[in-house]
Amino acid sequence: MNKTLIVIPTYNEKDNIVRLIEAIHGEKVLADILVVDDNSPDGTGKIVEKLSKKDSSTHVMHRQEKVGLGKAYVAGFKRGVDAGYEKLISMDADFSHPYTALKTMISLSKPDRVVIGSRYVKGGRITGWRWPRYINSWGANWITRTILRIKAKDVTAGFKSYPVEFFKKIDLDKVQASGYAFMVEMSLLAQENGFKLVETPITFADREVGESKIQGELIKSAKLVFHLAAQKKSYRQFVKFCIVGTINTGVDWAVFYPAKIVLSGLQPQTAKQIAKAISFVISALSNYIMNRKWTFRSKEKQIVKEGAKFMLVAFGGLAINQAVFYLATGQLHWRDIFGLIAATAAATLWNFFINKQWTFKNK
Ligand code: GDD
Ligand code: MN
Repeated sequence: MNKTLIVIPTYNEKDNIVRLIEAIHGEKVLADILVVDDNSPDGTGKIVEKLSKKDSSTHVMHRQEKVGLGKAYVAGFKRGVDAGYEKLISMDADFSHPYTALKTMISLSKPDRVVIGSRYVKGGRITGWRWPRYINSWGANWITRTILRIKAKDVTAGFKSYPVEFFKKIDLDKVQASGYAFMVEMSLLAQENGFKLVETPITFADREVGESKIQGELIKSAKLVFHLAAQKKSYRQFVKFCIVGTINTGVDWAVFYPAKIVLSGLQPQTAKQIAKAISFVISALSNYIMNRKWTFRSKEKQIVKEGAKFMLVAFGGLAINQAVFYLATGQLHWRDIFGLIAATAAATLWNFFINKQWTFKNK
């Protein structure tokens, strides 16, 4: 038994799979192969079954139905982990992932990192795709990378090498993606569990025989990406921060109007300014308390210091709010409502990020 297992899911790949296995052997790659076939109507499973009888490094796993690429990988990886392999590689059957890169992938692989055969780093290329598919892939990759904040260029890549340590750390039964979004979820899980994402350039060549099964996966994958984003701690915190902010805008008004009435003995302009100052301080304080307790669950003991930082950030936010509003309405001549929206958005983002990183030291 070799220490590395290459897991290749197949669905109707009879004209590719045997050639690919032979090509891998031809490269003298030190790895075993596990083909996970979803009962392909074209007989791929039977063909590999026959081959595995005389080739002791090739194995096949038959599944009753086509339930998706992600599910096929989960089943294949589980079997590989149970069998005691140290490195597990995911690879397409259609020659899109260059078998000539396998040796490099294996040599780069270490217990603390996931190696990605990447199309989008320097030296990586895609050949054979027509531009709509290219734009599609590039765009999906960019959006996914941005909203999930994955530190890799190719986050939808299917050609990867995982250390067994990764599978010991995560729970494959809890993986949510059943289809192509599986690739993204794995990249995210790797990053969140402290594994480095290391990219090595590959040339991804479109398949020459057989058909792609990606149709219908785009919407499903997009849904899962948003779902994964919503589960991220920082997004939940941001939503909480906005809710707290909205509540305290209410507090601000609820203090401002009565205060103005109480101060009505003073000159109107002065009364207004004092009332505004009072309502700002009170709403900022209640904002602080709610965010400390609920949004960031801070355990900091020096509450005065933390509170002072929060107030300082709030003043910064106020200045940004005014500056953006002035710029938008006074200089760019936007309508007041749009100026207000832009000013609120800018100040909210500032407040959120600075408070998260600096005030509450939330990583
Ligand atoms: N067992 C099983 N079950 N295998 C499947 C299934 C399934 O439901 N769906 C697809 N496969 C197999 C195919 O037979 C092939 O070996 C591999 O998974 C990739 O499928 P393709 O249909 O060729 O994918 P693609 O070329 O459109 O997509 C490639 O690029 C994407 C990003 O642009 C793949 O590399 C994806 O992994 C990648 O995300
Ligand atoms: Mn393909």
